Amino acid sequence: MQYKDFSNVHVMEHPLIKHKISLMRKKETGTYEFRKLVEEVATLEGYEALRDLPLKDVTIETPLEKADVPMIDGKKLAIVPILRAGLGMVPGVQALTPLAKVGHIGLYRDPETHEPHDYYCKLPDPIDQRLIVVVDPMLATGGSAVDAIQSIKDHGGNNIKFMCIIAAPEGIERLAKAHPDVEIYIGNVDRELNENAYILPGLGDAGDRIFGTK
Ligand code: PRP
Ligand code: URA
Repeated sequence: MQYKDFSNVHVMEHPLIKHKISLMRKKETGTYEFRKLVEEVATLEGYEALRDLPLKDVTIETPLEKADVPMIDGKKLAIVPILRAGLGMVPGVQALTPLAKVGHIGLYRDPETHEPHDYYCKLPDPIDQRLIVVVDPMLATGGSAVDAIQSIKDHGGNNIKFMCIIAAPEGIERLAKAHPDVEIYIGNVDRELNENAYILPGLGDAGDRIFGTK
């Protein structure tokens, strides 16, 4: 489903995605289960986000005869998690695209200003021929996603999708306006941000819940 009048923003409607996100939100969901759910939601969202991969007919032999069958048209993919929490989504997308290269972008939010600070960037080189799927479970103010995508563009990336699990309205609008060429896939749109720029009702700190650091 499209979000408001942003034609590049797609909100998931599948009941399995909604159900798994609800399980993630529960405060009693532990690290192991949380991590599994992040992976599963990433796979289900990835399935939607990659539905426009081009196909070409390839001739193969079945046990009975030769046949021209559709195969993915050699599209080169890169998965780029925003550290740390984005790492949790990587295995879920790799389940669909095991040959994709993986780049990493390190950003953390300043606890006072909530603005992102970058500390790491390593992308597959060259990046310009690849479809790049940027993953991060949380889109809050949108600052991290906007900066991460700008870094990828500065390195030559030009075909970019962004996948998150939960988004706040503020972050969606900021990202969709900053990068209108990027297709954005969202598991659920939550109500609002609190005074610390955490998403409500949200699920807390995604990185801490994936890695058990709190
Ligand atoms: C979280 C999350 C996003 C960012 C979202 O990361 O994983 O990257 O916050 O917030 P924003 O939309 O307001 O920028 P965090 O900075 O907490 O780092 P972590 O993943 O290392 O815990
Ligand atoms: N980052 C998180 O991990 N959770 C939020 O609610 C906002 C930013």
